[in-house]
Amino acid sequence: MSERLQKFLSSAGIASRRQAEKLMLEGRVTVNGKVANELGVKIDPRADAVKVDGKLVRSEKLYYVLLNKPKGTICTMDDPEGRPKVSDLVRGVKARLYPVGRLDFDTTGALLLTNDGELANMLMHPQHRFAKTYVAKLKGIPTPENIEKMKTGIYIDGKRTAPAEAKLMGVKEKNSVLQITLREGRNKQVKRMCQAIGHPVIRLNRLAYGFLTVNELAPGAWRHLMVEEVELLKKAAIEGGRKAPEDPRLLRKPRPPQPRKPRIKA
Ligand code: URA
Repeated sequence: MSERLQKFLSSAGIASRRQAEKLMLEGRVTVNGKVANELGVKIDPRADAVKVDGKLVRSEKLYYVLLNKPKGTICTMDDPEGRPKVSDLVRGVKARLYPVGRLDFDTTGALLLTNDGELANMLMHPQHRFAKTYVAKLKGIPTPENIEKMKTGIYIDGKRTAPAEAKLMGVKEKNSVLQITLREGRNKQVKRMCQAIGHPVIRLNRLAYGFLTVNELAPGAWRHLMVEEVELLKKAAIEGGRKAPEDPRLLRKPRPPQPRKPRIKA
């Protein structure tokens, strides 16, 4: 079955479809030895040899994994300090999976990993305003005015944060719990916003990534997304994500991994 070259390149995790088109126009892509710099080119992934900058591109199966990131793990793929990586927790998947965005070393919760470069780029693109919901334990108790500031915008590095949802969930002695939903992904954004109102974060957990929650996953555990979830995620990447599953099929508990039957030779 033939498919457009730029689609093949993005499905293979080389680049987003638009970036793949750029690579083609720059003459960096060849099909069976010939430069393919026309955007209409179609290929047969099973028969044609596609190369980018002289390197063969293999069509890879795409994986989508939801991890409940534990504390003390990093989202980068190479760490000079040798700290535990989130990718090390996802064992048994025959592909190199990349985290979609980052959570800090001490942040826990919902983290998506995939080798689908196109979807990852869409989810991370500021234009798509994908929703991420956090629960933060704060030092002290923010005033209603401070909560309002979190909602309307706070200046960080001279740039105002986008409108957010923020709600005080509870108070325990001198500390409090805040739930906040952001639709942008600036570096250490929750911590810096809370610091800006004078209430440093003591503990941070990402409760939901769009409609995906990790309620049923223990820290460090992961699961493959269901086909319906991947479809919804693609749709939500364009629409900006949602906080709760609207599709009743997503309320179904995922099937636990089944033990493999030993193979018996005849
Ligand atoms: N905001 C933060 O401050 N840290 C995270 O890990 C995620 C969002």
